[in-house]
Amino acid sequence: MSVLESVLVVIVSIIAVGLYTRTPVVQRPTQLKSTYDYIIVGAGSAGSVLASRLTEDPDISVLLIEAGGTPEDIEEIIIPALVTETLHTDYDWEYYTVKQKYASKGSNGQKSYWPRGRCLGGTSVLNYMIYIRGSRHDYDGWADKGCDGWSYKEVLPYFLKSEDVRVSDLYKSEYHSRGGPLTVSTTLTSPLINTFMQGGQELGFDHIDCNGKTQEGFCYMQSTTVNGERCSTYQCVLKHVMGRSNLHVSIDSLATKILLDGKKAVGVEFIRSGRKLQIHVNQEVIISGGSVDSPKLLMLSGIGPKKHLESFGIPVVADLPVGQNLQDHLMMMMSHCINRSISVTAEKANSWYSRLLYKLMGTGYLASAGAVEGNAFFHVDERKKGKAPPDIQFHFGGASPNAKYMTNFLSNEVAEEYYQCPEEGLINNIVLLHGKSRGNITLQSTDPFLPALIDPNYLESPDDIKTFIKGIRTHQKLMNTVAFQKIGTTKQKPVSMCSDQVYDSDKYWECFIRHIAITIHHPTSTCKMGRSQDSDTVVDPQLRVKSISGLRVVDASIMPNVPSGNTNAPTIMIAEKAADMILNKKPLAKLNL
Ligand SMILES: Cc1cc2nc3c(=O)[nH]c(=O)nc-3n(C[C@H](O)[C@H](O)[C@H](O)COP(=O)(O)OP(=O)(O)OC[C@H]3O[C@@H](n4cnc5c(N)ncnc54)[C@H](O)[C@@H]3O)c2cc1C
Ligand SMILES: *[C@@H]1O[C@H](CO)[C@@H](O)[C@H](O)[C@H]1NC(C)=O
Ligand SMILES: *[C@@H]1O[C@H](CO)[C@@H](O)[C@H](O)[C@H]1NC(C)=O
Repeated sequence: MSVLESVLVVIVSIIAVGLYTRTPVVQRPTQLKSTYDYIIVGAGSAGSVLASRLTEDPDISVLLIEAGGTPEDIEEIIIPALVTETLHTDYDWEYYTVKQKYASKGSNGQKSYWPRGRCLGGTSVLNYMIYIRGSRHDYDGWADKGCDGWSYKEVLPYFLKSEDVRVSDLYKSEYHSRGGPLTVSTTLTSPLINTFMQGGQELGFDHIDCNGKTQEGFCYMQSTTVNGERCSTYQCVLKHVMGRSNLHVSIDSLATKILLDGKKAVGVEFIRSGRKLQIHVNQEVIISGGSVDSPKLLMLSGIGPKKHLESFGIPVVADLPVGQNLQDHLMMMMSHCINRSISVTAEKANSWYSRLLYKLMGTGYLASAGAVEGNAFFHVDERKKGKAPPDIQFHFGGASPNAKYMTNFLSNEVAEEYYQCPEEGLINNIVLLHGKSRGNITLQSTDPFLPALIDPNYLESPDDIKTFIKGIRTHQKLMNTVAFQKIGTTKQKPVSMCSDQVYDSDKYWECFIRHIAITIHHPTSTCKMGRSQDSDTVVDPQLRVKSISGLRVVDASIMPNVPSGNTNAPTIMIAEKAADMILNKKPLAKLNL
């Protein structure tokens, strides 16, 4: 054995003993006060950022209530490539939708699995770390519908405020900034990303920054990671401010009711270690429980659709369309095998070389979030280009998902038949960005410990199938480019559950979509924002719950429509903007870009 080899063996053994041995965060035992200026319910993507901003002023006291615990510094959470291992852990609410009528036919019981974060950092602790802001036309659309202050030029400063870009190509871009809490990096590891970019070029798409001037084209992934580690809102934000004496964080605390005095929110009731507590506010209660649990808590407190609440005997305080307008993104994970050894396989990712590279440099396969490394956005109707948000997003990954992972979302039979590349392969996720189907969140009981009923009503609208099929056709063209053919990209094999349709006909793909499309976990709009007079909406453009004082909602549920892309960065932007509103600060100046 050479000296170098012995050194490597020693290093590798150290790594094998424990890739991560860190000092655990010591939780300060919190002696709660009876009153705070603000109470925030939910320490997720939005709640953590909001708590941090509000407590920058030492004279403002905040209580942050979180149902889950503190995420440990375990490999599964910290190492981006292990993202698939975060599902079904203690940090996951493990929700399921109700049986779907038009979709999820390939899932057990026709129900869609909805992981949601349940700990400090919320869903940003489980997510894929993809950093996408959405189309400028999304936000201009919000403003056009009466959400004053939410146009692209007005929200861009808040995206920039939250960002700390670490991609050298983007340092000079006016669309990016440094110094914010949310670190944006790039983690390209597989040569397949070049295949994707070349394929896009062959089809006539531009290479762009998908968070830049326009969103139409192909781009390299940007991810919320820092030095090869997950940048959740716990890791990057909350953890650094939990020592502030004006911020109290109460974990393992399930909020069960908003305390109301007539039409004014005065506090929160919650259960911690089996004890019921009531804490009051001098200023406001802010609900940041996410798109499933914010509407649930409002409804349990008498704020929601009158008939629905009455059917449970809940006294109605405000008749508002809480839980309605549920939107989400569905995706088709198209799997193709290739005949070159250039994709990311479990074996390569777990090799000692990969572990060493990661440990020493924070790079390599382990630094890449599920090997998702490319994005593309386009319109299925060319005439809408430059005028409206795109219809389809591709998430490209230089790895083939294994059937075992896919059984999280699909039945064993479907997963094993469709996701079966022997080793080397790739994935292209086709995401339907603006489906027309709408669902709802409703109560199943007045027991706060029981989950709400989730009905996304996927694919009810026939238009959703049409748009999806157009996305599949572009995907097929991409797989047929010289770039992809050079690496021996295989064709799709017909699946048996759709064998009664002619392979590759629209009817065939409709069947395929209704079986295999699954959520990409972007539920929004269940406490929809709109102008005060708009009876289809729950909060006004200042995020105040209509007809109730002292109560706001700040999280993904307020989005009037789901944006064109992944929802974490937009949710954090909402929290940044809300902090200024709550503190009565002048909004950041418009950016005319
Ligand atoms: C598997 C997965 C992958 C994803 N990948 C990406 C991605 O790559 N990029 C991206 O941009 N987005 C991604 N997303 C979506 C994104 O992470 C979410 O949109 C975002 O985190 C939502 O933030 P939020 O603040 O609205 O809710 P959450 O972050 O879910 O926060 C809600 C918090 O409130 C707590 N809570 C709820 N009810 C109560 C109660 N009654 N009392 C006390 N506490 C309560 C919860 O425990 C939770 O901590 C993904 C989501 C999932 C599930
Ligand atoms: C929720 O949606 C389902 C399915 O569309 C519908 O049957 C039900 O009436 C809705 N419930 C409420 C309270 O809106
Ligand atoms: C991979 O497939 C391509 C296209 O079918 C073929 O030209 C090439 O020889 C194959 N390469 C290997 C290593 O099998």
